[in-house]
Amino acid sequence: MQWLLTGGCGFIGSALAERLVAEGHAVRVLDNLSVGKPEALADIAPLRRIEAQGAAAGWTRGAVELMVGDIRDADAAAAACRGAAVVVHLAANAGVMQSIANPRADMDVNVAGTLGMLEAARAAGCGRFVLASSNAALGAVEPPAHEGRAPNPVSPYGAAKLAAEAYCLAYHHAYGLSSAVLRFGNVYGPRSGHKGSVVALFIRQALAGQPWEIHGDGGQTRDFVFIGDLVRAVIAAGTAAPLGGEVFQIASARETTINELADTLAGAFEAAGRPRPAMRHGERRAGDVARNYSDTSKAAERLGWRAETPLPEGLCRTLDWFLADPRRATG
Ligand SMILES: NC(=O)c1ccc[n+]([C@@H]2O[C@H](COP(=O)([O-])OP(=O)(O)OC[C@H]3O[C@@H](n4cnc5c(N)ncnc54)[C@H](O)[C@@H]3O)[C@@H](O)[C@H]2O)c1
Repeated sequence: MQWLLTGGCGFIGSALAERLVAEGHAVRVLDNLSVGKPEALADIAPLRRIEAQGAAAGWTRGAVELMVGDIRDADAAAAACRGAAVVVHLAANAGVMQSIANPRADMDVNVAGTLGMLEAARAAGCGRFVLASSNAALGAVEPPAHEGRAPNPVSPYGAAKLAAEAYCLAYHHAYGLSSAVLRFGNVYGPRSGHKGSVVALFIRQALAGQPWEIHGDGGQTRDFVFIGDLVRAVIAAGTAAPLGGEVFQIASARETTINELADTLAGAFEAAGRPRPAMRHGERRAGDVARNYSDTSKAAERLGWRAETPLPEGLCRTLDWFLADPRRATG
């Protein structure tokens, strides 16, 4: 099958590309390289740079095609989508803080950019559109997060993801485009060297000899999902029987305190023969959610998907990836 990954040079996109290529699929990436770098794809298969004309000409097997372009460029989006069976839309402003600093720029990429990709996918007759959404679209709700809860976004990023979700649903009803919306928990794993999320940050800090700062008492909870599990969910959503804009919570369905995470990650450092990182408690951050985890039973029923990787194993695999090349810890 032909898979177009927007934002495919990023953390999730490059991991997905790796799995798809291993399964024998044709992979094309549309990325403006604002965050991701082509090197993220270089170890997967021969990398073939293409322009819009090359994209229109057809797909290359046995290589990853990279089209450098912006999702907001209608010509680039149209060319990239031509011939794609599945579009996985990952390209986004991926940060809550960035969205608070500049909500209009966040809207431009995360809402208008998604609309542009939906238009391109519809015009090209793509069979499935999978949107990378986030629990931020759901926002501050009583845990566990699940698809039946009324959304209550508390950041411009969450509001933009919610709008993008709504467009996926509308494109199904108005134009018959089959789509799925995946609300990811906190994703961690190999290929996350540039991410600001807590696991990647702690690993970079420990490797630089810096202590970990745990905000508040560390009793706040999050749902950490390993990238290998997440990639399986995306592939399931891309290939499942027709879907009409349905939302799925994609997470581990386990509530983990930040103290537990830090302890388990410290254990992974010791298991790798490294010193146990120092930790200290700092101020509680304003707006830090006390509890957050997801009920993933809908994904289990409809997609046959469940997270399988235990946190200690996932953290060891993540740390091994960072340790295999010191450049990975420099982002
Ligand atoms: N990583 C997580 O924990 C997490 C959690 C919830 C949701 N998500 C969502 O998953 C998706 C992928 O996240 P990630 O962690 O891989 O992020 P990432 O920042 O590593 O990757 C995003 C990629 O999109 C590209 N990009 C950004 N703006 C673009 C544009 N206008 N045109 C073309 N390319 C553009 C960047 O260069 C980058 O390669 C995002 O939509 C994000 O909101 C991620």
